Amino acid sequence: KYPTKVRVVEVGPRDGLQNESKNIPTDVKVEFINRLSATGLKNVEATSFVSPKWVPQMADHSDVYSKIDKVDGVSYPVLVPNMRGLLTAMQHDVKEIAVFGSASEGFSQKNIGCSIAESLERFEDVVSTALDHGIKVRGYISCVCGCPYDGAVSPQDVAKMSDAFFKMGCYEISLGDTIGIGTPGTIRAMLQEVLEMVPAENLALHCHDTYGQALSNILTALEMGISVFDSSVAGLGGCPYARGASGNVATEDLVYMLQGMGIETGVDMELLLGAGRYICEELGKSTESKVAKALSGK
Ligand code: HMG
Ligand code: MG
Repeated sequence: KYPTKVRVVEVGPRDGLQNESKNIPTDVKVEFINRLSATGLKNVEATSFVSPKWVPQMADHSDVYSKIDKVDGVSYPVLVPNMRGLLTAMQHDVKEIAVFGSASEGFSQKNIGCSIAESLERFEDVVSTALDHGIKVRGYISCVCGCPYDGAVSPQDVAKMSDAFFKMGCYEISLGDTIGIGTPGTIRAMLQEVLEMVPAENLALHCHDTYGQALSNILTALEMGISVFDSSVAGLGGCPYARGASGNVATEDLVYMLQGMGIETGVDMELLLGAGRYICEELGKSTESKVAKALSGK
């Protein structure tokens, strides 16, 4: 019934850090990514080639990307909002990018400063140029279960956007519950609609755990054949343009659940816990991972 293997996409260095108000030194970001690369994770989202006026914490994107050790077999995708971001990414020989849109108009305006239709036009050029240069492209869709500005979002709107990204050539569409509002009920209804347009093997789920629903939502998606999940070590994360959104589901908690179900992830729990401890110490924060908390007493 469940997939035998799951690919975990670690988004801690990007989603996890983008919302931190205190400036994090580049070397700390680099060390954090290097530690994550050593855990067996195959995808470590490294940074965002976005405007530093919009997301100051990602202003050192070029330095971070240049300095990290690129481990064979590990992909280091970066977020790209427009052609300018892509061109800078290409100068740094980036092999994978992620474009990011929204299923709701309000969040699209607030996050990337344009409507959904305008964003699709913009991404059309970005994605085709990236593909022409042999760069893989992932497509994020935010607000798949609800929007902090517009409220309810229809599964049909998510399916339409997924179809557009898939047709553009995104190899994977990551469905983002940006404000963690989804439940197994709304996640199932949304996925049913999206699966009409995009095969399960090209979909990923990106859960923020604001309402404590993330693992239940992931289990629901696993039952529906989804086998790629985004998470942040220590449960870091949040989007500066989604007020009230808390961190992503913690990678430690996700890996613990999958291990318990006999589903292979290839991730070493001890090394993962170590990466989480490292970044929490540097940020002066306690972990949001329940598994990390439970195991720290042992
Ligand atoms: P804009 O202000 O509409 O566009 O921003 P602009 O072209 O007028 O650019 C503004 C300034 O930024 C200009 O500088 C540009 O040169 C510069 P100025 O002339 O004023 O000095 N600029 C850039 N600088 C560096 N790199 C670039 C770049 N582009 C422009 N690529 C823009 C439009 C899209 C740029 C802006 O809205 C932006 O950067 N947004 C990014 C927001 C963001 O990163 N949000 C968080 C990530 S998404 C997320 O967290 C959700 C996700 O996790 C899934 C989920 O949970 O739902 C993925
Ligand atoms: Mg996110």
